[in-house]
Amino acid sequence: MKRSTLELLCCPGCQAALSLRDERGNGTVDEGGLFCPHCERSFLIRNGIVHFICPQELGGLNRRFGRFYDRLSHVYALFTKMAFLPMGGERKARKEILDRLDLNCGRILEVSIGPGVNLPYLFESPTVGEVYGLDISAAQLARCRSFVTKRGWSVDLFLGMAEALPFKAGSFDSVFHIGGINFFSGKKEAIDEMIRVARPGSKIVIADETERVARLYDRIPGFSRSYHGKKADTAVPVHLVPDTMEETRVDDIWKAHGQYHGYCLEFRKPA
Ligand SMILES: C[S@@+](CC[C@H](N)C(=O)[O-])C[C@H]1O[C@@H](n2cnc3c(N)ncnc32)[C@H](O)[C@@H]1O
Repeated sequence: MKRSTLELLCCPGCQAALSLRDERGNGTVDEGGLFCPHCERSFLIRNGIVHFICPQELGGLNRRFGRFYDRLSHVYALFTKMAFLPMGGERKARKEILDRLDLNCGRILEVSIGPGVNLPYLFESPTVGEVYGLDISAAQLARCRSFVTKRGWSVDLFLGMAEALPFKAGSFDSVFHIGGINFFSGKKEAIDEMIRVARPGSKIVIADETERVARLYDRIPGFSRSYHGKKADTAVPVHLVPDTMEETRVDDIWKAHGQYHGYCLEFRKPA
């Protein structure tokens, strides 16, 4: 993690500023801990990744999907490549979303970065700035870390929940999320958090599969959305975007065999 990133971080529980402890690293912060003087919680830094959650403490769908992606991580990149083939390929499918971001060399946050499958398309843009990624799965982040290290890309990574982001308000010039929100425990909290950490005037872009496609996942063993007898609500979460947001729109994306397989919800935080 870059030392300057400390300025952006806050406690995900109470949003107080954090202090660095027992830091080790060569120019970057690779090992050590962060401490919240307000709620007295400590967060480990291991291999440059700050651990803002303890997987054992997760509940609801987050617990289920955190574990699911830990197990799936080794095949995830290949799986998405194959899944996007009928939609014209992965590049086209991802750029359909990423091209909507106003990069402008600013700070970009990907919520649920997974193993970093969107990064090649961000880093090929001449206007890419500093990139930050958060995910609930430690295995996905470990893969992402080795992916960016091999390519020499500077991307700071955080183990955390979309519903309680460990960043100060207004930290990012672009915030985006692809592919996980349908199954988050707290969609409303996650959207509110993306808005909070976005700079006033910046764009927030959220994409996921349509309800029809999400229902098909019920048939995949281990991906069932039922939890304590309740189904996850996989409707486009546009009703969770506050009316105060501007330029709110939803587009159908990922067309294959005459049908759209995804949606892209975008809006702008008022300046
Ligand atoms: C389908 S993958 C998407 C990965 C990547 N964004 C992409 O475009 O392919 C969903 C990701 O969401 C993460 N995830 C699930 N629930 C989460 C939550 N509550 N907070 C943060 N990340 C979460 C999973 O660990 C997984 O990496």
